[in-house]
Amino acid sequence: MTRWGILGTGKIARTFAEALKGNESSQLIAIGSRTAEKAQAFAEEFGIERAYSSYEELTKDDSLDIIYIATPMSCHHKDALLCLEHGRNVLCEKTLALNADQAQEMFSLAKEKDLFFMEAMWMKLRPTFMKVKQWVQDGRIGKVQFIKADFNNYVPYDAKDRLFRADCGGGALLDMGVYPLTLVLSLLGETEDIFTRAHIGKDGVDISNTIILTYPDGCYASTSSGFEVQGRNNAVISGDKGSIVIGDFFFCSAECTLYDMEGNTIEDRVFPPEINGYEYEIREAERCLAEGLKESTIIPHEDTLAVMRLMDRCRKEWGMTFPDEQTPTE
Ligand SMILES: NC(=O)c1ccc[n+]([C@@H]2O[C@H](COP(=O)([O-])OP(=O)(O)OC[C@H]3O[C@@H](n4cnc5c(N)ncnc54)[C@H](OP(=O)(O)O)[C@@H]3O)[C@@H](O)[C@H]2O)c1
Repeated sequence: MTRWGILGTGKIARTFAEALKGNESSQLIAIGSRTAEKAQAFAEEFGIERAYSSYEELTKDDSLDIIYIATPMSCHHKDALLCLEHGRNVLCEKTLALNADQAQEMFSLAKEKDLFFMEAMWMKLRPTFMKVKQWVQDGRIGKVQFIKADFNNYVPYDAKDRLFRADCGGGALLDMGVYPLTLVLSLLGETEDIFTRAHIGKDGVDISNTIILTYPDGCYASTSSGFEVQGRNNAVISGDKGSIVIGDFFFCSAECTLYDMEGNTIEDRVFPPEINGYEYEIREAERCLAEGLKESTIIPHEDTLAVMRLMDRCRKEWGMTFPDEQTPTE
């Protein structure tokens, strides 16, 4: 059994706790919050043995095999360093950090301490995504020529919501754009040539953005993300022998379809989640721990860094920075 602790008691922490509870090889034994009340309430709800009223106390628990970090983007850097300094393996929520420098520092410390560290980029571990990568690698659509991937979710403005708060690492790019960009870089790799624009909201973070990536061999990709409209949010990968569509909300979609050049369906696959979809990242982290790996072969550090570098470039073009790119005070 792998003994897990969760750091933070927000929305995704609850979803993750449900996945841990349903996963046979996992034991959720500790929760850490900034307040005793929240830690206690979370522990009672999920039947967790230990509730810590500070993140530091949680990280000092030597019985934990791994800690899952579920705080806002702007906190990941300091929370991850805290865990690593106390000798804990870490699974840290996306987007891993505010920028590539922070991410590099986190990876370097993990390496120095000889600990496992992985970004919780769950999309890459879902069976749907795995199948799509396999189709592409097997040449089922020929040479990939164009990728279109969007993630636009209407979110009513709320100044207190971390999504709109610059001090929480808010904005559409880091919250949502990270998925289409991860998809594109997974299939096409990095490129020097990007064109991007963003709509910066009144709080100084992007409320929508678009990014076009072009490659020396002529292939290209287009992504968008934002809070202003409700999109269909699928992904289309087009090659010179066919195309692949990953269904609505492509990053968590259960369905992918392979088409030929005439638009005929060649294969249609549906992979309903076994628990709630987060079980795959749990199992990958546990596999790595069992095999003594310090980074996942499916979500290697370098892949996370490549996406971070691209997001840094986009924000630079928009003139968007986070306040000191430091921790919020709330
Ligand atoms: N993989 C996914 O599908 C997915 C989905 C949603 C979110 N996420 C990621 O998960 C992370 C958390 O998202 P969420 O939606 O769960 O956020 P949330 O509901 O706002 O929860 C964040 C938690 O972090 C803790 N926290 C520490 N410092 C904080 C601060 N200054 N302001 C607010 N909260 C603070 C709080 O827990 P305590 O009060 O207990 O300390 C809070 O409950 C983000 O990085 C997000 O990108 C991933």
